[in-house]
Amino acid sequence: MRSPLDSGAWIELDDTRSTQDDAAQLLAQGVSPGVVFAHNQSQGRGRFGREWVSARGDSLTMSLVFQDYEDAKEPWLVGMAVGLAVAKAVGASVQWPNDVVAGDKKLGGVLTELFPGASGRKVPVVGVGINLNQTSFPDEIADRAVSLAMVTGRRHEATTVALQIIKQIEGLPEPTSWGALQNEWSAHDATPGKRFRLVTGEQAVAVGVSDSGSLECLVNGQPRTVMAAEAVFGQ
Ligand code: BTN
Repeated sequence: MRSPLDSGAWIELDDTRSTQDDAAQLLAQGVSPGVVFAHNQSQGRGRFGREWVSARGDSLTMSLVFQDYEDAKEPWLVGMAVGLAVAKAVGASVQWPNDVVAGDKKLGGVLTELFPGASGRKVPVVGVGINLNQTSFPDEIADRAVSLAMVTGRRHEATTVALQIIKQIEGLPEPTSWGALQNEWSAHDATPGKRFRLVTGEQAVAVGVSDSGSLECLVNGQPRTVMAAEAVFGQ
């Protein structure tokens, strides 16, 4: 897979609101960002408009701008590939569609958004947030969140981990179809058996990821397939 640094520059910010917004703005200005990396982010957002909380020195926050994949037919596969690259870089697992987990707890997440590039084409911008060095989490998420330091017993430097992720991206097959990613994904997949809440309010138990990249699950014992684009909430 092509690195975001093949088509744009490494941009390092000390403090920002959201690297996703920075990437969108730079693209709109005709600047070619490859990676927008921030040491501190104050208004990070996650999937489904949820807040993404991070802290200086404890978190990795960056947005990868995939200009080589503008107008990709299945842009969510770019995000799923990045989730896989993150899992491989930090020795963790992926959970559909693109959470990065260690055991049952969330270590990081990936947010794929499309922003117009200079030509007006839609560029996939994949935000990556990883809990690196936290030693504890607020009560509300303590049972669901974990940091890399809690897993490995040592601190991690955000730029080093960012470069390891980019190296892993370069080693992945082109994410042009789910079939291209499936083998590697399966080797790192922690999805089967996990519980999801569907937008309908129903509880689902994951069986696995289908040939098209959607989630196969059981709802009240009945098989159902759920698209990545449909809102499905973890837990
Ligand atoms: C998730 O909901 O799991 C995805 C979280 C993605 C957070 C990252 S941090 C860097 C980038 N900038 C943002 O505002 N969000 C993403």
